[in-house]
Amino acid sequence: MMDYKNILASQLASQLEGVTAESIAELIEYPPNPQMGDLSMPCFKLSKQLRKAPQAIAEELKANWQGHPAIQRVEAVSGYLNVFLDPAGFASGVIGEVLEKRERYGSQNIGQGRNIALDFSSPNIAKAFHIGHLRTTMIGNAIYKIYEFLGYNCIGINHLGDWGTQFGKLIVAYKLWGDKDAVEAEGIDELQRLYVKFHDEADVKPELEDEARAWFVKLEQGDEEALGLWKWFVEISLKEFQKIYDLLGVRFDSYAGESFYNDKMAAVVDELKQKNLLEEDGGALLVRLDDYNMPPALMIKKDGGTLYHTRDVTAAIYRKNTYDFDKCVYVTDAGQSLHFQQWFKVIELMGYDWADKLVHVPFGKVSLEGAKLSTRKGNVIRLEELLTQAIEKTKAIIEEKNPNLENKDEVARQVGVGAIIFNDLSNNRIKDIVFSWDVALNFEGETGPYVQYTHARACSVLRKANGGDGIEFARQAAQLDASLLPDAASQGLLKQLYLFSERVEQAMHKLEPSVVSRYLVDLAQAFNRFYHECPILVDDQALREARLALVKCVQITLRNGLGLIGLEAPEKM
Ligand code: ARG
Repeated sequence: MMDYKNILASQLASQLEGVTAESIAELIEYPPNPQMGDLSMPCFKLSKQLRKAPQAIAEELKANWQGHPAIQRVEAVSGYLNVFLDPAGFASGVIGEVLEKRERYGSQNIGQGRNIALDFSSPNIAKAFHIGHLRTTMIGNAIYKIYEFLGYNCIGINHLGDWGTQFGKLIVAYKLWGDKDAVEAEGIDELQRLYVKFHDEADVKPELEDEARAWFVKLEQGDEEALGLWKWFVEISLKEFQKIYDLLGVRFDSYAGESFYNDKMAAVVDELKQKNLLEEDGGALLVRLDDYNMPPALMIKKDGGTLYHTRDVTAAIYRKNTYDFDKCVYVTDAGQSLHFQQWFKVIELMGYDWADKLVHVPFGKVSLEGAKLSTRKGNVIRLEELLTQAIEKTKAIIEEKNPNLENKDEVARQVGVGAIIFNDLSNNRIKDIVFSWDVALNFEGETGPYVQYTHARACSVLRKANGGDGIEFARQAAQLDASLLPDAASQGLLKQLYLFSERVEQAMHKLEPSVVSRYLVDLAQAFNRFYHECPILVDDQALREARLALVKCVQITLRNGLGLIGLEAPEKM
């Protein structure tokens, strides 16, 4: 397909002295109102450099316009050069590309196989998987899929929180009050109950804290009893996490969690010493970061134990050596931003030139009708519960709207889980979100169900056209008369289809899945307008085929886009 933006940019650059095509490409916009052109080039920023009024620049560009077969005409209006594409050429270009590329439509090979390590989800063992973890899981999963779609090789790493003083506490609590059968039966809930009890008791009996620290040191030294209990806690937790990952359709390439670095930290601490970066402070070892306006990064506690920082620095070095990553991306809540800034700086001070390839992707908090998500107090909203409820509520909606639907349970799962995921990804990730059932499950709003429903609607049109037999569309673009789609609804829809790959690329650069979810809502809205304005299954064969082609293109693009953010695309709902 033609790259209209770059075609325009290079043509305009050749008309302007000292202005590059790249800088023009950055200025070009897609006006929401088609009367202002399909593409538009604002001349305001060039005004200073060229010492001319914006409108004068626009008029000159129009006067000297050389013409291009894909471009019908240009207009100079209030400092903009508005560009109108040839509608038939545009239609056949877009349709041709979508029908040819299919499930690869929108993909590119920007990455050329380079590696991206993605650290996401990474829940803590023995703690409930709550709706905050859904964000890192789904944002990370979407970024993974987006990078992959753009030609990168991704390594998804679940950096499990399976090490640290909390295991000392849990061992103490289990030995004092635990019961094997209860843990087997209740899993994380019971472990969490023990953990909460530990904190309650330690408030009045502070010596429990010392005991916990001692048990953690034992664990780090490989004590058999400690290790046995720890392994058991990990197994029980992983079994529960896996259920959630299965529901969400998320998988990882590596489960190397914090404990994986136990035997690798000593070498890194030595290296820090050799590089003169460690300072002793009351028996603890830390890296001072005063020069960078940050508190010190604590590497070794005074009892000899390691910390979150120690493990992250070690893991980064290991990953660089193992995956030679082009980027290593960490998806966590914004509350951990300082932690990442601190240890990214430590890597830089160690002299590693790849420090700038470490990227923290922070996100805002989630709340559900005002409830807090604290693990220490134990009043968390468990994700499994939330997902189960979403599925049930969706099933009830389906029973009401479409009681004859086959495989209702399967669709309820796809839509219910999709609603939760989409809700999570529909705003800029840094924003705090308040979860509301009414918003998430609304089939009409800017929601997952709305986009999925639009996809199912496109499928239903295709099925009808095929006499009920599947959603294929066998014709090729060359067999269609693309001049039959000049109306505003069809052209608006074609424009959305055209924008897909650009939006995916933007989502990658900004590490922002909401760019894709918002795009999907735009595409769905453009389709629904087309659907209401343009009868599709008309008698006129040529018109019917042209419109059906457009429907097929929408179905393909919605499905591809939903896949990028981790949603399934049911064909009926
Ligand atoms: N386990 C941590 C938590 O639940 C997240 C870990 C993020 N990854 C990392 N390499 N620090 O908050």
